[in-house]
Amino acid sequence: MSENYTTTQTGTPVGSDAHSLTAGENGVTALHDRYLVEKLAQFNRERIPERIVHAKGGGAFGTFVVTGNVSQYTKAAVFQPGTTTETVQRFSSVAGEQGSPDTWRDVRGFSVKFYTSEGNYDIVGNNTPVFFIRDGIKFPDFIHSQKRLPGSGLRDADMQWDFWTLSPESAHQVTYLMGDRGIPRSWRHMPGYGSHTYQWINAAGERFWVKYHFHAMQGNEEMHGAEAEAIAGADADYYRRDLYEAIERGEFPAWKVSVQVMPFEDAKTYRFNPFDLTKVWPHSDYPLIEVGVHTLNKNPENFFAQIEQAAFSPANTVPGIDISPDKMLMARVFSYPDAQRYRVGTNYNELPVNAPVAPVHNYSQDGAGRHGFKAASAPVYAPNSKGGPVADADRAGEGSWESDGALVRAAATLHAEDSDFGQAGTLYRDVYDAAAKERFLETITGAVGGVKSAEIRERAIQYWTNVDATLGAALRANLENGGTTPDESAEYVGVAG
Ligand code: HEM
Repeated sequence: MSENYTTTQTGTPVGSDAHSLTAGENGVTALHDRYLVEKLAQFNRERIPERIVHAKGGGAFGTFVVTGNVSQYTKAAVFQPGTTTETVQRFSSVAGEQGSPDTWRDVRGFSVKFYTSEGNYDIVGNNTPVFFIRDGIKFPDFIHSQKRLPGSGLRDADMQWDFWTLSPESAHQVTYLMGDRGIPRSWRHMPGYGSHTYQWINAAGERFWVKYHFHAMQGNEEMHGAEAEAIAGADADYYRRDLYEAIERGEFPAWKVSVQVMPFEDAKTYRFNPFDLTKVWPHSDYPLIEVGVHTLNKNPENFFAQIEQAAFSPANTVPGIDISPDKMLMARVFSYPDAQRYRVGTNYNELPVNAPVAPVHNYSQDGAGRHGFKAASAPVYAPNSKGGPVADADRAGEGSWESDGALVRAAATLHAEDSDFGQAGTLYRDVYDAAAKERFLETITGAVGGVKSAEIRERAIQYWTNVDATLGAALRANLENGGTTPDESAEYVGVAG
């Protein structure tokens, strides 16, 4: 008898892999065929809800090595000179569902979980340094406009452009999205950004504002819309396959990690709001400072257990790192753990891919799926006189900022150069070369050409005119000449969260 025999979930050997228990060979199926019932019931529960955004993705495990010295800015153990930390990374597109093609035009997610000695630290960013909106209260509306119409279940250019043109703060990110950055060659050939401004705290308690940059050591490469469209039809998993096969071949993709550091006091007087997620900080003001190298070197053994159930969150910070007064970031620190309690389950942080290497000491207990527990003698409440864990503010190394005033619902105080279109115009005029500008015009002509409402089309032309008057005029001329382009894939662009 083989030792490799089929059992039920409770370890009992079963009688057949192929035949249900029936009353005679042609008879009815017996309800008491426990293995049949268990097998069908387990199967029906294999799926968990897909992520509400960033549903399609892939990932791998890696290692982060500190090569620079940023100890004067943060006391976080993960960034101290010479430290090596194990990681897991997930890449994703945003608007498409689980089975959607990897090469649809979209922003790409770039999430890294560092299993640090002081707890898990997650950077949950994108391949663009900015975002479409600057207040989390607009996020569900934004995503609804980019997903599907409630009636037909179809994506809709009118919804997308209606939202964007009524939300002018989106212009900078839409300029990235419609540019070459909107379709990378692969996940290995794109950069990553923390995007938000974060806070670092050093051993002396001094505070700094930082932005994270990940530069692909393979170089940045993109693909044209027509090629992306052809690949979308032929191989929906193009990026997932590329990453998996590269790692199998021993070609380990790596990213150089740097930060821009702004002295704490500069934030008050900087020329634009440094906590506005629609803005970048010019490198001429705050140059890149080397931190380390992140390398992906191990494929998942089980996609569901290790990638689908991975739970990344901007709420996962460590001593010496904190958030900033960015309204988007504050909304996100609530939103991700809430989504994960629903999507994966209350005790999602006990799963191996999410569990920290740092010890967990607290008074949380029970809940669906809980398997970890403490000794029966351990106290279950605080304060206690039984030697249970006690919070230590020094060890926590939390950040802070000064804030007062009445509770209001209002835009942040204006800084001298705050504007919705300024940096979008600079990106188009000064960063895109002539060929990139041509591709950009082609893409927005196709995209705005997909809008049916004359009023929204006119608003879209005005939107691009505000970014750059010449660009707006060229778009108008193209649309009037019936100039929709061969880049049909640009009509319904996916987008971001
Ligand atoms: C207030 C604004 C935002 C809200 C409410 C929000 C919410 C969410 C939620 C609920 C998820 C699914 C989490 C899960 O089920 O595990 C998610 C995923 C994600 N979001 Fe956001 N998001 C926001 C803005 C952003 C921004 C600004 C970025 C990038 C800078 C971003 C990047 C990502 C990424 C990369 C993922 C996928 C994480 C993974 O790989 O599992 N999101 N977002």
